[in-house]
Amino acid sequence: MEAYLDHNATTPVDGRVLDEMLPFLQQHYGNPSSVYRQGRLARQAVESAREQVAQLINAHSSQVVFTSGGTEANNLAIKGAVAGLTCLAVSSIEHPSVLETARKWAAVGQRRLVEIAVDQHGLVTQETMANALKAKPGLVSIMMANNETGVIQNISQLAVMAKAEGALFHTDAVQAAGKIEIDFTALNVQLMTLSSHKLYGPKGVGALVFNRHVELAPQLVGGGQEDSYRSGTENVAAIVGFGKAAELARLELAERQGKCKFLRQKLLRQLAKIENVVVFAQEVRCLPNTVFMAVPGIEGETLLMEMDRAGIAVSSGSACDSHKSGPSQTLLSMGVDESLARCAVRVSIGKDNSEQDIEKFVRVVKQQVKAMQENDMLAWA
Ligand SMILES: Cc1ncc(COP(=O)(O)O)c(C=O)c1O
Repeated sequence: MEAYLDHNATTPVDGRVLDEMLPFLQQHYGNPSSVYRQGRLARQAVESAREQVAQLINAHSSQVVFTSGGTEANNLAIKGAVAGLTCLAVSSIEHPSVLETARKWAAVGQRRLVEIAVDQHGLVTQETMANALKAKPGLVSIMMANNETGVIQNISQLAVMAKAEGALFHTDAVQAAGKIEIDFTALNVQLMTLSSHKLYGPKGVGALVFNRHVELAPQLVGGGQEDSYRSGTENVAAIVGFGKAAELARLELAERQGKCKFLRQKLLRQLAKIENVVVFAQEVRCLPNTVFMAVPGIEGETLLMEMDRAGIAVSSGSACDSHKSGPSQTLLSMGVDESLARCAVRVSIGKDNSEQDIEKFVRVVKQQVKAMQENDMLAWA
């Protein structure tokens, strides 16, 4: 059996989610904008999914706009909120759907982008945030948890600082949702991005959650769906799946966290026994499912291939960056040496992993370290 340890890239669709979705592909295929019974059924399903997604993060359902995923929600947040602004600040470790959007925006005319550095632990500190705010950005975007390291930012503190300077605050919570508790209302953020396929829902659906006092310019115009913030016939089955996945994530959060924490601790204990293994960002608060590690001397890509041969799925960084070769930008931003960053491998545990999966992974790491040591000895002989 394959050991799937790449849940930050994507998760399998939960069987209970699929069961909710299927009727909306087969029997209830109406367009939610249609007024007859089939349409009304679809509309009701979309609205109850909106409620389920809102409940996951303690938001109001009227604050949820469905999109085609996290990428679109991040694009909508940045491009939609920057109208009239001249300065924007984003952390240097953002997902490309934030970072590249912001860079593109700043490449035009009299606009300024401040890229906020992180410290050696991968955190945006109060000091760097205060410095960034001196440039008077109209919008600040800092992710809640990093997809590679799993490091969790102190969003409430940073958002309060932004608010005091009159800046809007957006947080990409794609990796955090379903893994840690999130309270949109208490966090003092105005915009938040979510994605279904990171929490056992289908791919191709996500949401931008935002306070309606934010003036947001739609990026897709047409039929006026989603209160005109996102035109296009709703992907009803996917939205229903996202809603169910959000409900399950809320109800099972403690159980999932407990399971992941237990397996993560086991992995960390085992890795600590292997000579030379480096685990990044160990001193700060991380997602309960993520371990970003390296065996110095073994390229991440090489270790990943060995893992694949052994039936283990891990990644050497974020899946979205995997088509670009090169070391993790997040690690480089943390000041990690480039040669060590090239050896990074990310393990992201899910609710259905077992102790055997962890043991299997550790076995391959040990084999690779041993093989490297033997090769070194031969080279010296
Ligand atoms: C932090 C983060 N933001 C945004 C995204 C993009 O989400 P989606 O795949 O739904 O477009 C990802 C996906 O990996 C992510 O990890």
